[in-house]
Amino acid sequence: MELLDTLWQKGQQFLGVKYPIMAGAMTWISNHKLVSAVGNAGGFGCLAAGNMPVDQLAKEIDKTRDLSDKPFATNLITIAPNYRDHLELVAKKQVPFIIFAGSFPRGSEIKIAKESGAKVLAFASLESIARRMINSGVDGLILEGSEAGGHIGHVSLTILIQQVLLAIKDIPIFVAGGITSGRLMAHLLLMGAAGIQMGTKFVMSEECDVNPKFKEAFIKARARDAIATPAVGSELNVVAVRAIRNKGMDDFSDLQMNLIQQNRAGKISKKDAQYEVENFWVGALRRAVVDGDIDRGSLMAGQSVGLVNKVQPMREMLDEMIRDAQDELLEIKNRLSC
Ligand SMILES: Cc1cc2nc3c(=O)[nH]c(=O)nc-3n(C[C@H](O)[C@H](O)[C@H](O)COP(=O)(O)O)c2cc1C
Repeated sequence: MELLDTLWQKGQQFLGVKYPIMAGAMTWISNHKLVSAVGNAGGFGCLAAGNMPVDQLAKEIDKTRDLSDKPFATNLITIAPNYRDHLELVAKKQVPFIIFAGSFPRGSEIKIAKESGAKVLAFASLESIARRMINSGVDGLILEGSEAGGHIGHVSLTILIQQVLLAIKDIPIFVAGGITSGRLMAHLLLMGAAGIQMGTKFVMSEECDVNPKFKEAFIKARARDAIATPAVGSELNVVAVRAIRNKGMDDFSDLQMNLIQQNRAGKISKKDAQYEVENFWVGALRRAVVDGDIDRGSLMAGQSVGLVNKVQPMREMLDEMIRDAQDELLEIKNRLSC
């Protein structure tokens, strides 16, 4: 463990955990069970506020604290309808870490979070955004490549590593997108990451409470099956989400083509067409995760879905990663010493 401890000391201290391995928040998935299980196994869990009613989020925070005394974060989606109420709640409940996702938090919102005593993290997918977030007062950054699952940026991790991780040394940076192995984690730590964040892999933990069909779809899928939402042309605005290709994705392409044709023929306004596009996926993640509708629900997953093929207990999953990371570092050390 010596080599690893030296490399990720900054991340350990920042998060207050044994392993600076974050289980990225996943709406409808990252509940008190998953978050406490990650924390109790030595990692760092993030509760997903998503679109949750405020009283439900309050209960999730309380239940997490009942099951674990380890630090955890709450992930707030800045574009969620009840986002401001979520922010007030987590500040009142003094959740130790607040992660802003969705779009960029305002300086005043970061201030509210920090004044509650929380450490604040935000996503950054460009050097300019990273600098803007640092200037707004965030304490740490999550650098996520477009191979990740869920809502994604447009730039892959290989590029972001060079643009941001190797360029910015001011605050801890946690790297996400496509990571499933301790071996890759070791290399990211060598490049200066304070730790890593994974989503897709944690779905495969026994403690992750989703419909079994959701996990089965993950086991079957190959890396190339996890595609970004198809966007037909540029007339309609489509938010990029990475998910496993299914009937829903194909229907979504057909819908866009129909809407574009109708709009060109003057049968539907652009505004109404856009509304139909946005309405298509409403409730779709819940349908996949909770109801197990793998044909038409949204099977959000990263390309890393092609690297996961078994369900395993949380502790085993983390222990395996630590062992592999340590082996990788020893190999590197041997290579360098000859
Ligand atoms: C099903 C699913 C739901 C997600 N929901 C959220 C979310 O609510 N908030 C967020 O910040 N990120 C969300 N993410 C992104 C993850 O937190 C994480 O950053 C990402 O999965 C990392 O890439 P990986 O899947 O390749 O490990 C989600 C990812 C998945 C797979």
